[in-house]
Amino acid sequence: MYDPYLLVKCFSLIPKKAIFAENNIIMEFKRNIIITGGAGFIGSHVVRLFVNKYPEYHIINLDKLTYAGNLANLKDVEDKPNYTFVRADICDFDKMCELMTQYRVDGVIHLAAESHVDRSIKDPFTFAQTNVMGTLSLLQAAKLYWESLPEGYEGKRFYHISTDEVYGALKLTNPEGVESPFTTKASSDHHHAYGKDFFTEDKKYQPHSPYSASKASSDHFVRAFHDTYGMPTIVTNCSNNYGPYQFPEKLIPLFINNIRHRKPLPVYGKGENVRDWLYVEDHARAIDLIFHKGNVADTYNIGGFNEWKNIDIIKVVIKTVDRLLGRPEGADEDLITHVTDRLGHDARYAIDSRKLQKELGWEPSLQFEEGIERTVKWYLDHQDWMDNVTSGDYMKYYDDMYKNR
Ligand code: NAD
Ligand code: DAU
Repeated sequence: MYDPYLLVKCFSLIPKKAIFAENNIIMEFKRNIIITGGAGFIGSHVVRLFVNKYPEYHIINLDKLTYAGNLANLKDVEDKPNYTFVRADICDFDKMCELMTQYRVDGVIHLAAESHVDRSIKDPFTFAQTNVMGTLSLLQAAKLYWESLPEGYEGKRFYHISTDEVYGALKLTNPEGVESPFTTKASSDHHHAYGKDFFTEDKKYQPHSPYSASKASSDHFVRAFHDTYGMPTIVTNCSNNYGPYQFPEKLIPLFINNIRHRKPLPVYGKGENVRDWLYVEDHARAIDLIFHKGNVADTYNIGGFNEWKNIDIIKVVIKTVDRLLGRPEGADEDLITHVTDRLGHDARYAIDSRKLQKELGWEPSLQFEEGIERTVKWYLDHQDWMDNVTSGDYMKYYDDMYKNR
């Protein structure tokens, strides 16, 4: 069978400009791409996809390894010759400049962020620091490096991953006499919607939480670097992701773990809020497509055409966990506990991603039923991963491992 790594390693194929350092041969890769936040949930799927799909690219995973970063998410690619992990903080501007030069970076896919809304309500400063100042530090480092090259910005790309939460919240509305969710062609052929409005790329930014305010600010900085300096930037705004390797502070993995251990399920308010769910590998595929084929200075919305009220998705998760654990389906619904609502809780998110569909041909590949089945199964089969993450053991391990680097 064709093995691209064998070719990469094969001496006769080392390109003319291979570099020799300390007796090791370092490949001259076709592209050198920094992926920030690659040890997190979505980042790890993006890193895995790029490392496997593009053996001719050098993928540098730059991550601070906060509580949300976990190198166990990337065990299967850590020994690949085109993968490098660097522990660094995006806010460390000198380090960002050093890395740009050291790895001769020509592409940045920026996912590193503080990502949990509830944490942002308790500690907004950390969100402003990482999401705004960190993004600015990365932008400025890329700018200085790329402008120092003879070819300047040619062939370069700074791709910023953002969220639909920057658009604020939509209302739950339904046509007279029709129950929600109703089928509408307003955003796709098969959208079951909880309202008539959707987030399109030209929707005004109206963030509500400190998290979404910090993401909105970082989006503005990215666009400003295009408009002011001509940096080739792209921004995408995606809806709620679900799938393997998500930190269990977020709804789906938290609830799967709690159901397994018969712990209460804290539903905020009445559980009436609506989110648009996308399987994480479909987001990673969209990122790959847009990184390569998206228009510079453009924005693309990415969504699942898949709206759910929290309480309904929770019931689907309960049934799936129960079935896979051999319990009577729905038996664990007694764990549902309504708790005080999240402050400023956004009512509904719903992405219209027809632009991405029309221009680049992207569509979600997985039906939700299949995605949720796969996700629940993955968490139930990876209790060791869950135990590590929830016990904090992995943090101690990485601190010891990296403190002297
Ligand atoms: P995550 O919290 O799982 O991972 C974030 C990663 O960033 C972690 O590995 C963490 O260690 C790293 N990080 C944090 N601060 C850092 C710093 N200062 N320097 C370097 N690394 C740092 O997040 P996620 O859910 O995978 O989200 C990734 C990106 O996608 C974020 O920018 C988020 O805003 C965006 N996004 C997420 C979703 C979603 O549903 N999860 C949806 C749309 C957009
Ligand atoms: O829309 C994209 C965003 O989706 C991303 O930008 C964020 O990084 C990501 O965390 C996610 O934000 P949400 O706040 O929508 O996700 P979360 O999993 O925290 O919550 C989903 C919904 O479930 C939300 O309406 C709040 C509710 N919820 C959440 C938790 C953790 C509960 O009812 N109980 C809970 O314990």
